[in-house]
Amino acid sequence: MCGIIGYIGKKNPIEFLIDGLKKLEYRGYDSSGIAIKDENSVQLIKSTGRIKNLENKINNTKVLDGNIGIAHTRWATHGMPTVANAHPHKVSKVTLVHNGIIENAEELKAKLMEEGQIFKSDTDTEVACAVINKYYTGNPISAITKATNILRGSYAFGIIFDDQDKLYAVRKDSPLIVGIGNYENYIASDIAAIINYTNKYMLLNDNEVIELSNDNIKIYKDNKEIKKEVSTANISAEEADKGDYKHFMLKEIMEEPLVLARTLNKYINDMSKIYDISGYKEIHIVACGSAMYAGLIGKNLIEEKANIKCFVECASEYRYEKVVYDRKTLVILVSQSGETADTIAAMRKAKENDIDTLAIVNVKTSTIAREADNVIFIEAGPEIAVATTKAYLLQVAILSLIALRAAYKKGLEQKYTEILTEAKELPVKLQKVLNDHDKFLKIAQDIYKNHDVFYIGRGVDYAMCLEGSLKLKEVSYTHSDAYQAGELKHGTISLIEKDTPVFAIISDDKIKNKTESNVIEVASRGAKVFTITNDINIKDHYFKYVVPKIDYYFQPILIVPPLQLVGYYVGDLKGLDIDKPRNLAKSVTVE
Ligand code: M6R
Repeated sequence: MCGIIGYIGKKNPIEFLIDGLKKLEYRGYDSSGIAIKDENSVQLIKSTGRIKNLENKINNTKVLDGNIGIAHTRWATHGMPTVANAHPHKVSKVTLVHNGIIENAEELKAKLMEEGQIFKSDTDTEVACAVINKYYTGNPISAITKATNILRGSYAFGIIFDDQDKLYAVRKDSPLIVGIGNYENYIASDIAAIINYTNKYMLLNDNEVIELSNDNIKIYKDNKEIKKEVSTANISAEEADKGDYKHFMLKEIMEEPLVLARTLNKYINDMSKIYDISGYKEIHIVACGSAMYAGLIGKNLIEEKANIKCFVECASEYRYEKVVYDRKTLVILVSQSGETADTIAAMRKAKENDIDTLAIVNVKTSTIAREADNVIFIEAGPEIAVATTKAYLLQVAILSLIALRAAYKKGLEQKYTEILTEAKELPVKLQKVLNDHDKFLKIAQDIYKNHDVFYIGRGVDYAMCLEGSLKLKEVSYTHSDAYQAGELKHGTISLIEKDTPVFAIISDDKIKNKTESNVIEVASRGAKVFTITNDINIKDHYFKYVVPKIDYYFQPILIVPPLQLVGYYVGDLKGLDIDKPRNLAKSVTVE
C-alpha cells in the first residue's frame, strides 16, 4: 500500500530515492518523505501530497551529504496524511519507513507511554520505531529481531540507526526486495523501482533481517546468518516507463496485444503448463476487485465448458466465512500484484484446510507466487497505472485456457486444436479493436458530463459489465452500476431517463435475444444505448460497435478493452489524475 525504497553506496542517494519514489507512487501518494544519513546525523525531509512536493522541498533545503538513505510514499491507514504522520519516523537513534499495519500498535503505544515515551504522530509506524529503539543497545540485528517477536500485523521496514553505517530491513506479509548494485545496494517494495539500476535481486522471507553495506549483504534469521539465492529480473526499464503516452493506463491498454501474444505463445505451445483442473469437483475462485471480475468470466467458462461447479468469492469475505470443503476442491487465487492482503489470507485459509491452491499472478516475486501450491504467471510486465487493464485481460486469458484444457481432458471439447489455433489470432484481432480508439473517444465525449452510467448484460456478458463499470468509476469518478440485464426491471430501471448512457454487452449467442429485449426496454425510456457486440445483426439503438468474432472461450478478451478505453477517455476529458485516482492504491496490502 505504501512504497519503500532505500540506498547504501558511495553517492548521495537523493536522485536515486526520488526516482524510486516516482516509480512507487502508484502504491500510495498522500504524503512522502526521505531520511539521509551521514557520519554524524540523520536528516528527515517530509511533505504532504505528491512526490513533486517533496522534490520541491528538497530542492529548497540544504541536504546532508550522506550516502545512506530511505524514502517512503504513503497511503494513509493510521492518521491523516499530514507531515507529522508522513514517514520516515525517528525515535531516538532509530529512523524507519514502513509499509503495512501494526495490529497491536495501540496496546504497545500505551505501554511505551507509561514508560515515558512521547509520540509525535498518530501512526502505528512510530510505535514500531519506538519498539526497535527500546531494544537497541548497539546491536541492530538483535533489536530488530526482538521487535519482530512483539509486533503483530504486516510490515516491511527500511531502517537506519544514527550510530551504524549500514542499512537494515525486514519484512513480514508485505513486499520488500533487496537489489544488488555495483558497490551500492538497495531495498525496494517493487523491482520496477530499481530496474534502471540493477536486475539482480534477492527475495526475503518473513522476519529475515537484512544488513546492507555498499559491498556486502548479510541476512539473519533468529540472529543467525543465513545464505540467499540471487535472482535476475527479466523486465526491461522501458516496460516500467511511460514513454510518449500521456498516461500509463493508456500505454498499458495499448500494450495488450503484445502481452497477450507473449502470454498465449508461452502457454498455447505447451498446454501442460496450464494447470489441469479436470479432476476437481468444485472450484473456488477467490480474488478482489478486477481480479474477482476476471474470475467471474472464468466461472462462466469453467461451468459451461468443463462442467465443474465453480464459485467466485470476494477474498475479504471468503477469509472470514465458514467454508464447507466437502468435495474435492481447488482454490484459485487471482491477483496481479500477488500481495493483496485478503487474497493472501484466503490462500492461507485454503492451505490450512489441506485444499489445493492455484495462483494466477503477475508479480513473480510476490507472496502469493511463492506460497501457492501451483502458479501460472500472466507475463503482463510491470503494470503501473492503479487501474488494472492488461493484467486483468491476461487473467481472463489464463482462465479461458484453464477452462479449455479441462473441457478437453474431460472429453467435452472436440474442437480443442482448432480453438487453440484460433486463439493465436487474438492479438491481431485485439489490435484491430484498439486501432478504433477514436470511436471510444467519441463515446467518452458523448457521456463524460453524465452523472450516472449503466452497464447491462447476461451471463459472461454481465461479468464484463462489472469490469467496464469499475474502470469508469475508478478513473473518472462517474457513478456507474452493472446489472444483469434481466434484473433491471426489478427496480433500477426507475433511474433510466432521457439520455442516460447504458452500455449493453451482447456476445453470448444463447441469451442474445433476451438481452436485446432488455435493451429495447431502456431505449424506449430514453436511454442512449451503446452496444458492444460480436454480432453485426444486433439492432443499433444509438451506437453499436462490433468486435471481431472469435470462439466463445476468448470473446471477452475483445470486448472489455473498448470499455477500458471509454473509462480512460472519460477520466482524461474530466482532467483527472488517471494513473493515481484519489483514495486508491495499486496493491492493497491491508485488510
Ligand atoms: O493485485 P490484485 O490483482 O490482487 O488487486 C486486486 C484489486 O485490488 C484490483 O484489481 C483493483 O480492483 C484495481 N483497482 C482495479 O482496477
